[in-house]
Amino acid sequence: MTRVILGALYPGQPGWTRWNDAPGSVIDIDAARYVARRAEEAHLDFIFMPEGLRLLETAGLIDEDKLTGRADALTMLATLLGSTERIGLVATLNSTYSEPRDLLRELATIDLLSEGRAAWNLVTSNDAFTGENFRRGGYLAYDERYGRAAEYVALLRQATTSWQLDDIIADTATDRPLTESATARRHLDVRGAYICHAGTFPVPSVTGQPPVLFQAGDSPDGRDFAAQWADAVFSHHVSGPSAAEFYRDTKSRLAQFGRPESDLKILPALKVVVGATKAEAIERAHELISVQLSDEVIRRELSAVWGVDLSNLDPDGPLPPFDPDPGTGGKFYSEATTPQQTADRWRRISAEHGYRSARRLLAHVHGGSVLADTATGVAEEMIARVETHLVDGFILAPSELTTGLDEVYDLVIPELVDRGAFRTDYETTTLRGHFGLSSAREEALR
Ligand SMILES: Cc1cc2nc3c(=O)[nH]c(=O)nc-3n(C[C@H](O)[C@H](O)[C@H](O)COP(=O)(O)O)c2cc1C
Repeated sequence: MTRVILGALYPGQPGWTRWNDAPGSVIDIDAARYVARRAEEAHLDFIFMPEGLRLLETAGLIDEDKLTGRADALTMLATLLGSTERIGLVATLNSTYSEPRDLLRELATIDLLSEGRAAWNLVTSNDAFTGENFRRGGYLAYDERYGRAAEYVALLRQATTSWQLDDIIADTATDRPLTESATARRHLDVRGAYICHAGTFPVPSVTGQPPVLFQAGDSPDGRDFAAQWADAVFSHHVSGPSAAEFYRDTKSRLAQFGRPESDLKILPALKVVVGATKAEAIERAHELISVQLSDEVIRRELSAVWGVDLSNLDPDGPLPPFDPDPGTGGKFYSEATTPQQTADRWRRISAEHGYRSARRLLAHVHGGSVLADTATGVAEEMIARVETHLVDGFILAPSELTTGLDEVYDLVIPELVDRGAFRTDYETTTLRGHFGLSSAREEALR
């Protein structure tokens, strides 16, 4: 039977998400608690925190919709430990600009305290803009980033399986000398080109398994990395031929690492808008996109791709007639796509559809990731995308905070449940278990 994996994205900063009802902001802990509680009541697999190590800015000014700031992903998850019991807790964390011992200790602590619910969404983002924060500029050449990330993961695996909480508990119960479990602690030994570590790890594991590993990257190196190490991929490819290609290509890379394809879950972000009829849902989706596409957002997005200050551009006029600056353009996620390729694609779409304005074009580009339909239509489409091997599930991105995903929980999930595609209660206690990746050891522990 087809199962759809579902996570809830908690936007790190408002950006594309409209703030509809909460008195505070995205950094208000009550908002995060509400979103986590509702997601857990709906039995979602996980809540997902993105990360940004620097607030985005254009021409030296922090972008208007980022002015609330951005809280640290791991600390946010730590505060949610007390208000959740089963849902997975995924933090996006950078492997290029962090120190392994600190990051792994904090991650392992969340995994310990949540009893196996923590996950790391590993990102490498080696852009000089982020790097300036660390006085490192564009530290680590593009082709070295995944080298450091691989050493990081080797250390993650050694550290988080080096000793276990139940060894200590067993020793205490049987009055065995604690020195026995002390000697059972394996020493870490990673001597790589980027990371060197020895000694013991201070945090015991509760499951005997490392925290679940997500990865977000799109390049061939990124796909290989995911195929070798990750349990899940956060991808941009949510529908159509690009999703089919990404799914087929990424999954086909697992065999060379001796892994079955089911070991890696492909999970793109998806915005859902539900209506009483499909037409009503589409109209609401257009309304939401046009609210989010403020003049400032349009100018900023074009400035980022073209690499020049376009703050005087008329959003209701055409795209810039000149090409992006290859030196400074392309301040967006994937380096697999060049600024010129993006501009060419946008021009092609504008020509094909007869769009005369940047606003209309961007509404088309961003509308592509929105699934607008009746609850039944949304559920059936989700299942169809899993069955046709486009995705293994979705990371639901709210259009509005804080209540933006409630219509999915209230209307779509019952439809999924009716079709046997989603759980009615948690069957396991760990995120690895929710994904069906549970180990024999975890089963024994339950
Ligand atoms: C869907 C998706 C989401 C991402 N989210 C983040 C994020 O929240 N924070 C971040 O620093 N980088 C994020 N990244 C960027 C990745 O870290 C990575 O640097 C980038 O994709 C380049 O890797 P690649 O060349 O393999 O694509 C994201 C990438 C993708 C594809």
